[in-house]
Amino acid sequence: MTPEEAAAGPASVVVFAPVEGDAAALRAMLEAEGVAVRACTDAAGFYASLDEQAWCAIVTEEGLDRCTLEALDASLRRQPAWSDLPLLTLAGPDLAKVDSRRFARLARIGNVTLVERPTAREVLLMSIRSALRTRRLQFAVRAQWQALERHASTLEAAVEERTASLEREIGERRRVERALAEARRLESLGRLTGGVAHDFNNILQVISGSETLLRMLLAKDGNERTARALDSIRRASGHGAALTQQLLAYARRQPLNNVPLDLSLYLYAAGEMLGTAAGAQIQLVVRINQALWPVSVDPAQLDAALLNITGNARDAMPAGGTLLLEARNLALPDPAWPEGEDLDGDYVCITLSDDGEGMSEDTARQAFEPFFTTKSVGKGTGLGLSQVHGFASQSHGLAFIRREQRGTTVGILLPRGAGEAQAAQAAASDLPVHSLAGARILCVEDDPVVAETMSSLLSMLDAEIVLVDSADAAIEADFDGIDLVLSDVMMPGSMDGIGLVHWLASRHSDLPVVLTSGYMVDPGRLEKLRVQFLRKPYTLAALAQAMSSALEQSVQ
Ligand SMILES: Nc1ncnc2c1ncn2[C@@H]1O[C@H](COP(=O)(O)OP(=O)(O)OP(=O)(O)O)[C@@H](O)[C@H]1O
Ligand SMILES: [Mg+2]
Repeated sequence: MTPEEAAAGPASVVVFAPVEGDAAALRAMLEAEGVAVRACTDAAGFYASLDEQAWCAIVTEEGLDRCTLEALDASLRRQPAWSDLPLLTLAGPDLAKVDSRRFARLARIGNVTLVERPTAREVLLMSIRSALRTRRLQFAVRAQWQALERHASTLEAAVEERTASLEREIGERRRVERALAEARRLESLGRLTGGVAHDFNNILQVISGSETLLRMLLAKDGNERTARALDSIRRASGHGAALTQQLLAYARRQPLNNVPLDLSLYLYAAGEMLGTAAGAQIQLVVRINQALWPVSVDPAQLDAALLNITGNARDAMPAGGTLLLEARNLALPDPAWPEGEDLDGDYVCITLSDDGEGMSEDTARQAFEPFFTTKSVGKGTGLGLSQVHGFASQSHGLAFIRREQRGTTVGILLPRGAGEAQAAQAAASDLPVHSLAGARILCVEDDPVVAETMSSLLSMLDAEIVLVDSADAAIEADFDGIDLVLSDVMMPGSMDGIGLVHWLASRHSDLPVVLTSGYMVDPGRLEKLRVQFLRKPYTLAALAQAMSSALEQSVQ
């Protein structure tokens, strides 16, 4: 038996023969053929039996007399598309009485065969077998039809699933592309601001160095107007230095002084500073998880970032409000923190939430850009959040803005650091001061104006100077009698300041080195070097301090 035959079940024939003898004779003949009989007693039963289970229908002319053509037509029309139920009609013996018009109409509505009676048993059997054979073929078509439908729906489901996954992929790709474009935009802005800040630091170095020199040279005059003018220069160059510091922070080109930090302790202390910065009208609420993981950050930069965020919160709540400082450990990615979905691993999250005026979507999108401000001229430079962003990225974390129902949350994610947090660092001023009088110093600086101010400052410290304009020239120098090397980092030529430090480590390993720059190509490169680092622009005191620390260290 084929699967189609199994699905069709045993053959059954519908019989509507109101004359008792006819029905019995047909039943006997069909059962002898192994065919089940569904006998009908009235027209309604006959119509209802013309279904998918029927293999064929046999109706005598007496049966037909009790049917209406319309009702029969309607029953046959209910058949599915694959079905064309064979209908055997057994006409009466007197052909003259047969309603030929009725048979013609019947033939139009269905698959009708007219068999005359009396008929030879064999003839009738052959007609029935032929009808059953036709029906078997129809059942085979039905089975294939159903298989096709199943395939079609499987295919449809597969297409739907693929379409949905394609849509997901496209959505994800768009998101990644947007993030990449945004990262590239911020990166190129960063390069630009970093470059500007670098040049400015050199200029500021000359201004502040010259101011120090002038002050010393004019000290004897005691002219008050001169002193006031010099004060203005100092204030302006200090302000300029602070601005370039913010720019460098955004550009992630800032020399970071990372130390392992116990954030819980640090933040409680920072809370006091932030409370003062926020002002009396704002209530600062501190909620810190006691067991925060240690992090390795530059505390001065973290201070600056928290102060920048607090300053913004204060401006967003002119009539007062609440500022909530929170910190918690986060294992990323965490669905509750979609801002960190691109990060993986342990992070500490510091957030400051205000209930102020909030940010528009546009403002939030641009707030991290340098010089983006909505504040009036003189009120904001638009560098506060740029520093926050740059500092967080440079610390291998990220900064984010969350627009709240009411107010704004600005957060910083910092990666969990290894090792124990340090309690405190020895302050630079605690170190013993080493005399520089008579020290012979090799100065490596490519900018002639900066070199000149540097030389003048060093002669103020009674040091002796050997000046070269590149690292390449420095390695050709005579190191006899040199006590210390003071070098810029970014210089033209085959080697930069860090390259020079490596060269010195292999040739003159005892020679103390002070590197000075307002700009780090890659702060990571500085990490393992035994050098003092001096941030430009520097004061005479800072220069003296750095050099004496370097000399002290080399003695140890
Ligand atoms: N907490 C906040 N609530 C509402 N708006 C804010 C908040 N923080 C920042 N902003 C918006 O983001 C802009 C950029 O902030 P950002 O700190 O970078 O610069 P600024 O505050 O304008 O100037 P600066 O901080 O350099 O003095 C702000 O001008 C302000 O429109
Ligand atoms: Mg600000």
